[in-house]
Amino acid sequence: MFSKKKEKVQVDPQQRELYEHARKRVIQKKRLFQHFIVFIVGSLFFILLNLLVGYKKEVTFFGADWYVICVIFWAFLFMIHFCNVWLFSTFMGKEWTDRQMERLITKQKAEIALLKKDVDLMYPTDELKKKKEGFIKEKASEIVNVMQESNPLITMIAAAGEDNSLGKDNDLVWHLPDDFKRFKSLTTGHHIIMGRKTFESFPKLLPNRVHVVVTRNTSYQAEGAIVVHTIEDAIKLVKTDPQPFIIGGGEIYALAMEYAKCIELTRIHESFEADTFFPEIDMNIWELKKEEFHDVDERHKHPFTYLTYYRKKE
Ligand SMILES: NC(=O)c1ccc[n+]([C@@H]2O[C@H](COP(=O)([O-])OP(=O)(O)OC[C@H]3O[C@@H](n4cnc5c(N)ncnc54)[C@H](OP(=O)(O)O)[C@@H]3O)[C@@H](O)[C@H]2O)c1
Repeated sequence: MFSKKKEKVQVDPQQRELYEHARKRVIQKKRLFQHFIVFIVGSLFFILLNLLVGYKKEVTFFGADWYVICVIFWAFLFMIHFCNVWLFSTFMGKEWTDRQMERLITKQKAEIALLKKDVDLMYPTDELKKKKEGFIKEKASEIVNVMQESNPLITMIAAAGEDNSLGKDNDLVWHLPDDFKRFKSLTTGHHIIMGRKTFESFPKLLPNRVHVVVTRNTSYQAEGAIVVHTIEDAIKLVKTDPQPFIIGGGEIYALAMEYAKCIELTRIHESFEADTFFPEIDMNIWELKKEEFHDVDERHKHPFTYLTYYRKKE
């Protein structure tokens, strides 16, 4: 009715090992007794044979009687069994074997680790390559950050007439599309620091730039911009940017002049009626590194030149 299923018994490996060890010792003991019995029986047989028929009484081996040789031989066998069953088991038993195994495994593990290192060095795996590349990139970016943090290229960017005019009634007094384009390409992705009035002259935030607005008003709020109350705070705030820009207006350019390292000035070759002006560029401090002229055309009513100044090294 009921089919008996064979159940597989899971034996603990340690128990199995102990069982194997005990089995081996039993076999050794059994052999010892077997040899002992064989020897006793054999000895009795030969003694009887010797008594009854004087079997090879005179046989000697290197001058000794045959039974002395037998006793020595048996003693030799006995010693082997004694060593196997008691001596070796006592002093070189399971614990000794375990210790040796542990030592051997530790040694082999160390050797394998060394070999693996060599192999990794000779034939780096993709994972290791990625790790190495990641590490190098991380370190490189850390170095770049440290360098930039300690030395950002603070740049003032402005467009000014020959008389340094910047604007009137909180607005510009010219329209130069290529200059706007250049302003956009230079400042995109960077921090732009500006005075509160310039910020308010924008119809909306300039895309992809972090706006930093300077005002004395501690309750001033500018949506989408960071508000600070000194030019020094503004500069501290942008120290992680490799090239933060000061974008005006007149009051902020004047404040930032001493901190700037570069001036990107679009000089418009005309004079304008204005109420805000760019500060004088002292040629003892600044040197002109680059200039690029842009002539009048259908979109640009005034000729102008892009001028790049760098602060002279002290
Ligand atoms: N041509 C160009 O490239 C260019 C570029 C930018 C601007 N602009 C023109 O420049 C004009 C605006 O310039 P602006 O000089 O009148 O104003 P601004 O420099 O843009 O802003 C002046 C404001 O900055 C704050 N401020 C000034 N000094 C400060 C200080 N030491 N500590 C804290 N906050 C301080 C004050 O804000 P609070 O009053 O809120 O305290 C001050 O009213 C506009 O006509 C604009 O179109 C021209």
